[in-house]
Amino acid sequence: MKLTEQEIGEIKRFLDGMHQTEEAGLMKKYIQHGRISTYDHVVSVVCLSFYLNRRFHLGAPERELVRGAFLHDFYLYDWHENGYLGRFHGLHHPAIALENAQKRYQLSELERNIIASHMWPLTPFAMPKSRAAFLVCLADKICSSYETVVRRKTMMRFPG
Ligand SMILES: [Fe+2]
Ligand SMILES: [Fe+2]
Repeated sequence: MKLTEQEIGEIKRFLDGMHQTEEAGLMKKYIQHGRISTYDHVVSVVCLSFYLNRRFHLGAPERELVRGAFLHDFYLYDWHENGYLGRFHGLHHPAIALENAQKRYQLSELERNIIASHMWPLTPFAMPKSRAAFLVCLADKICSSYETVVRRKTMMRFPG
C-alpha cells in the first residue's frame, strides 16, 4: 500500500500546517501502541483512510476526511499513566480529543463526528454518521492492530 508523491502533497495541503503545531509536537512525545507515537499513529490513519477512499472510489470528502483523521486522537495526554483517564481511555478519549480540537480549529459537523465516533462500537451512542467517519473508524482499527502486533512500525507514513 503506497501513496504517490502527489497524493502526499495533497494530504499536506489539506492539513494546512495542522501537523506542524505545538500540539502536534506533543503528540510525538506520547506513545500510542508499542513504540509508536500518537503522531505517527494519526498520520498512519490519515494515509490509510485517504488511500482506501481514493483506491476504492468511496467518495468521502477528502479534506474533511484528512482533518478528522488527523485530529481523531487529539487528546494530548499519556494514556499509559495510571489513574482514571488511563483506565477508561478507550471510552473517554474521543470526547476529549473533540474538545481539544474544537478549541483550536473550526470544525464541520462531519469532522466532529469523525473524531467523536472513531471508537465505535465501544462508544455505542457515538456512531459514525458518514462514509468518512466509517472509514476513519475502520482505518484506526486496522492501524492500531498493526501497531500492537508489529510494535515498531506504523502501517503508512509520510516524510516531514
Ligand atoms: Fe483513539
Ligand atoms: Fe487512533
